[in-house]
Amino acid sequence: MSGKSTKIRNENTVWHEPTIYRNNRESLNEHRSVIMWFTGLSGAGKSTLAHALEDYLHNKGIRTFVLDGDNIRHGLCKDLGFSDADRTENIRRIGEVSKILIDAGVLTMTAFISPFRKDRRLVRELVADGDFIEIYCKASLETCENRDVKGLYKKARAGQIQEFTGISSPYEEPERPELIIDTANNTVETCVDQVVRYLETNKYI
Ligand code: ADX
Repeated sequence: MSGKSTKIRNENTVWHEPTIYRNNRESLNEHRSVIMWFTGLSGAGKSTLAHALEDYLHNKGIRTFVLDGDNIRHGLCKDLGFSDADRTENIRRIGEVSKILIDAGVLTMTAFISPFRKDRRLVRELVADGDFIEIYCKASLETCENRDVKGLYKKARAGQIQEFTGISSPYEEPERPELIIDTANNTVETCVDQVVRYLETNKYI
């Protein structure tokens, strides 16, 4: 697959064609790569599910990586806040990193709120059909707020955090995700099973 970009600012760069491609790496790995894009409210269980899934897949000999919102915001995206524009840039960067990772032959899982449909659609359009699996971790605001694992909903309600998703910033539910996982009413193992079944049924693993 070519990674050529159509719109770049610096026109004086020339694409260098590699000799080893994604399919070569996938053959070496003996499995294919794909982006599994977990989206949902803070506290819905995206990171928990992605890491539990990674544990399962790694133990099956599959090369994996999890890009996790909170962690990435300590490094690559530490210059970004939570305005709509910053979230859009956050997701754009993660989309590009995910694209690189699938070219590297890695089964990539991302755990970002990624609240805007247009931003998730842009990532989907970055890669080929079938390379982007959108997984909606569905848990109501009430459930996430009751859990409040990080104590952030309480702070947001008290006005100590601005633009907090679900409270003072919107979350747009996916309209046609490949998978909806009810993370409010199922154990982590059941959720992992559901994703694994999808991957097996669709011949990803
Ligand atoms: S996204 O909207 O740009 O996709 P991302 O997934 O990277 O967000 O980061 C969300 C995490 O940052 C939350 O799980 C939470 O721990 C923390 N956080 C801090 N401030 C906010 C905020 N205003 N809105 C949402 N999450 C926040």
